[in-house]
Parts: sequence; structure tokens; C-alpha cells
Amino acid sequence: MGKDCSQQNGIYSFGPGFMNFYKGRRVFITGITGFKGSWMLKVLSLAGAAVTGYSLEPPTDPSLFDIIGGNELCRLYTGDVRDLGGLKKAFDESKPEIVIHMAAQPLVRESYRNPVLTYGTNVMGTVNVLECVRLSGTVKVFLNVTTDKVYRNLERAEGYKEDEVLDGFDPYSNSKSCSELVTASYRRSFFDGKDVAVSTARAGNVIGGGDFAKDRIIPDCVRAAELGDPVGIRNPHSVRPYQHVLEPVFAYLMIAKETFEHKELAASYNVGPYDTDCVETGTLVNTFNGFWGINRESYPQNPDFNPHEAGLLRLNCDKIRQTFGWTPRWSYREAVKASVEWSKVYLECGGSFKEDSDIPRGPGALGDVSEVMEKQIAEYRSGN
Ligand SMILES: NC(=O)c1ccc[n+]([C@@H]2O[C@H](COP(=O)([O-])OP(=O)(O)OC[C@H]3O[C@@H](n4cnc5c(N)ncnc54)[C@H](O)[C@@H]3O)[C@@H](O)[C@H]2O)c1
Repeated sequence: MGKDCSQQNGIYSFGPGFMNFYKGRRVFITGITGFKGSWMLKVLSLAGAAVTGYSLEPPTDPSLFDIIGGNELCRLYTGDVRDLGGLKKAFDESKPEIVIHMAAQPLVRESYRNPVLTYGTNVMGTVNVLECVRLSGTVKVFLNVTTDKVYRNLERAEGYKEDEVLDGFDPYSNSKSCSELVTASYRRSFFDGKDVAVSTARAGNVIGGGDFAKDRIIPDCVRAAELGDPVGIRNPHSVRPYQHVLEPVFAYLMIAKETFEHKELAASYNVGPYDTDCVETGTLVNTFNGFWGINRESYPQNPDFNPHEAGLLRLNCDKIRQTFGWTPRWSYREAVKASVEWSKVYLECGGSFKEDSDIPRGPGALGDVSEVMEKQIAEYRSGN
């Protein structure tokens, strides 16, 4: 158990002490304009952190970053992680204490279409961020956000542990395995004996309000619901560790805080749901339809482009539980319910999930969306 970890009944607490740690803290986030980055920014802005973001433009249009008014919540550098000079300038100017690296080409199918871009972003991007950490005199914590797909997938029922072979199958998964290896080498070569805690976090598929990405199941469900169409599922029987986006977001911030205070806890951690929440994609879609109030059958989708994707993937999360007392707060059903709640509020505010649609602008135009996010963050923190 981590010394002094703030826990209640053995469970890690995200109470006021946790938020206070981030008040005024200089946090540097790559990939801030993305789905996880925007939720993290929302949490950190509630905590009063001094956030710097470094990212390309939001990867989708509409985007959650625009919806929350992300530009006003952080100091944003629009740049490419493959550009070491641009990154170094942002580091020099913002002098971060904590660096959370999330910028990536994060889609499996896109990685088959564009392996060079995927490896360039996910591997050399990581090298560049670590190089800036190495040259900075201010960083105390580096956390690399990878994925559950970093492991060699043996299609077995038992969850993977942190010390298993890193050898993702497809270019996305494999580039993230490489990103882990790069991090391990930098840790051994440059940070041993230094006051920099270097960790990685391997989370499963996340769902939640505000994801507009292509080829992800909840955005596909919401788009179908908005259009009144049935939803097509590529692999209805594939099993994934689905969790709400707030689970990894808070787990990342917990690892960052605890390793800031106890460098010896820096390591690689799996971040996943309970085994009972590793469900088939078809089950997830039926649950979504139930909460939305849709009575339509989904249908199997057989796209022309159907590269290999893992069938069965589970994580063993004993290490993060034993070290910090971290456990998932929400079941997959609660995660789906929260995604539906967010999406309905967004549509009621005049938003749309259709590509390139304008989001309502002007003072208060999407105020209810911000409110629902703040409500969900408060519920998550209190464990409700
Ligand atoms: N969403 C998931 O289910 C999931 C699961 C496991 C791990 N992850 C990991 O979490 C991280 C965030 O994922 P997400 O779902 O928010 O993805 P996202 O696509 O919504 O966001 C990706 C972010 O990276 C930025 N980016 C992409 N290429 C860049 C480049 N060359 N230079 C600078 N910025 C660049 C984008 O602008 C965006 O801000 C990624 O590292 C991803 O691999 C995601």
C-alpha cells in the first residue's frame, strides 16, 4: 500500500485533499484537445490547476474541447509532438511540474491505413516528450498514457499483468508497446537516481459523453440514435474492458499525485474495470439502446476493410488496487448511462453528432453540457 495514500475504507479517495494538491499545480498535457484530454482539463480546471496543453487541433469536428471552451481553461500550444523544437519551447515557457503524455494516433483501423504516421506520432512523439522532460529542470512526474493493447494478445480469458510481454499486434497497439519500451529505456538511462518519477498507465476502452471519434462504438450508437437508424456493429462478440472516461482520467491524476509525493511508487499500472464489466460489444449496444429508449435491433456490419482486431482482452488490475487502493467507481452500465445522459443534454442544447456540424456558440449556449459534466465529476468523486 502506498504510504499516506488518501484512502477511505481502503479505497482511494478523490476528496478535497486530492483536488487541493492540483490547485495552482503546473500540469503539462499533450493530446489535450482530444476526448480524454478534454475531460482531464475539465477536472483540472475545477481543481484550479495551471494547465498547459500541447496538441494538434481537436481530432474531430465537433469536439469536446470546443464544447467546454478549452482554449479559455488552459494555455494551449497548437503543435505536433514530432516537432521537438516546438515542444521544447512550450516546456521552457511553461516550466511544468507534472507531464501527462496522451497525444497519439489512437485508432487501430486508422493505424492499418497509416502505419508511418502512427509510429511517427506514437513512438517519436514519446521520445520527444521524454527528451523535453530530460532537459527540463522542473518536471518531477512524467506519466505516459498507453493502452491495454500493449500486451501480446493470446486471446485468453485471464487478464494480462504489467510484467507480461509487450508486443501489440497491429501498428497502433505495437507503436504503444514501443512507446512503453522507450519510456523504460529513458527511465533506466536518464532518470535513475534523479528526482523524476516516470510511470506508464495502460487503460482499456473508454466511453463517455463527448466522444466524436469514428470507429468507436458509443459515438456510432449516438450518431445512429440521432438519425433514427439502427447501429451497425463490426464485432458484436468481441470482449473489451469498457470503462467510463473518468475512471482513467482520475487514475492518471492519482498516479501523478502519488508519485509526485512518493517517487518509489513510479511504475507501470493497468487501469481497467472489474471482470464483470468486460462485456461483448453487442451487450454494450443493447445497454445503450435500453437507456436511450430505443427499440431497434443492431445489425452485424461487414465493412470492406476488416483488418485483424483482438477478440478477447482483459486486464489484471491487482497492482493499482494494492498500491493505491484504486478501484473502478462505475460499472459499465453506469458508464453507458452517463454517456446517454451527456449526449441527450448535448442534443437538447442544439448540438449534433453529425460530422462538421456547427456547435451552438455564444454565452451560455452549451451551459447545460458543462453543468452535466460537473455533476458527473462530482458524482464520480463521491462514488455515486
Ligand atoms: N479512447 C480510448 O478508448 C483509449 C483507450 C486506451 C488508451 N487510449 C489512449 O489515450 C490517449 C488519448 O486518447 P483519446 O481517446 O483522447 O484520443 P483522441 O483522438 O480523442 O485525442 C488524441 C489527441 O492527440 C492529439 N494528437 C494526435 N496526433 C498528434 C501529434 N502528432 N502531435 C500533437 N498532438 C497530436 C490530438 O490533437 C488529440 O488532442 C491516447 O494516447 C490513446 O492511445 C485511449
